[in-house]
Amino acid sequence: MSPRLPLSDIVQNLPTSVPFVGPETLERRHGRPLQVRIGANESVFGVSPVAAAAMSDTINKLWMYNDPEAYELKKALAAHHGIAAQRLHVGAGIDEILGDVVRIFANPGDRVVTSLGSYPTFNYHVHGYGAALVEVAYVDDHTHLAGLAQAAHDADARMVYLANPDNPMGTWHNGADVAGLLAELPEDCMLILDEAYADFAPSAAIAPMEIADPRLIRTRTFSKAHGMAGARIGYAMAHEQVVAALNKVCNQFGVNRLAQVGALASLGDTGFIANVVQQVEGGRREYALLAKDLGLGHIDSATNFLNFDLGSGERARTALAGLLARDVFIRMPGKPPGDRCIRVTVGTPSQRATFADAFRATLATLPT
Ligand SMILES: Cc1ncc(COP(=O)(O)O)c(C=O)c1O
Repeated sequence: MSPRLPLSDIVQNLPTSVPFVGPETLERRHGRPLQVRIGANESVFGVSPVAAAAMSDTINKLWMYNDPEAYELKKALAAHHGIAAQRLHVGAGIDEILGDVVRIFANPGDRVVTSLGSYPTFNYHVHGYGAALVEVAYVDDHTHLAGLAQAAHDADARMVYLANPDNPMGTWHNGADVAGLLAELPEDCMLILDEAYADFAPSAAIAPMEIADPRLIRTRTFSKAHGMAGARIGYAMAHEQVVAALNKVCNQFGVNRLAQVGALASLGDTGFIANVVQQVEGGRREYALLAKDLGLGHIDSATNFLNFDLGSGERARTALAGLLARDVFIRMPGKPPGDRCIRVTVGTPSQRATFADAFRATLATLPT
């Protein structure tokens, strides 16, 4: 008999859900390793050698707790972005920060606006804190800025989430238009601007750093261009009072010593990051040419992934299954109309070649 646990009302009513099925889970299910892992928008180009050396040197210091203030990293980030260190909050990846942001702004039952089919971890936290999601459809595969603002007014929302550039579509808006969205939101509504892919985006896609509006929280990560997804480290740039509120609830020792040291070193290795960005651009161009060669459309992307347009959800799901059967791990947008696509992270040249072969073979078996 299963025990009756005194779970909170919110948790009792939560469906069991995971935002993502990890590639390791897929490998265990299939009983064999994946050949190519290009589904989670990780950076196959790895970590900066300077960061790797700094982390190796830190291993024998792991007996000490980490700096709960991430002081050195915040100082470097402040200089990097030209903002005060008091406006920075470091967390165990954007995913953790999103949870803390929802926690400090949303009461159970409050409404929160996002795009239908956008980054699911945000939704996971919204459900977890008992708030309610209002979802706005994409228009032409872009997040719908005017629609988000309207929904925020209609729902009297506490916050709006916007990934720019967007995941899963890879599309982006100009930074000036994002700043315009902020101006259109209700006075007491926060804008969570998730800039996980900022390193890959054209500078015009980045909202001005000078925005002083206390309703704006922007998040960045070391998981993408810096190649440190498994180290779990990211940060938020926000008003000092938001940072102070985050400090009231965050896991104080949650950002481990290796991650802090690695991120600090990686931030300084600008040549390495520029090279990763260049390789990603080349990979995106190659994917676009592959799409053309296969008679498929693609969606222009400002990220480290690209969507191939299969024309329908059914064809995209069959292609994803066909690739997985060939031990190639990719993902796809979960909601229509984006679910007519498969989303493929830029791999190394040899991973891209393996993917191209597997994709060609898979397409040959798809009904037209
Ligand atoms: C839009 C977006 N935000 C956040 C994340 C996760 O970032 P982190 O690894 O820092 O938690 C991802 C990862 O794919 C993402 O696509």
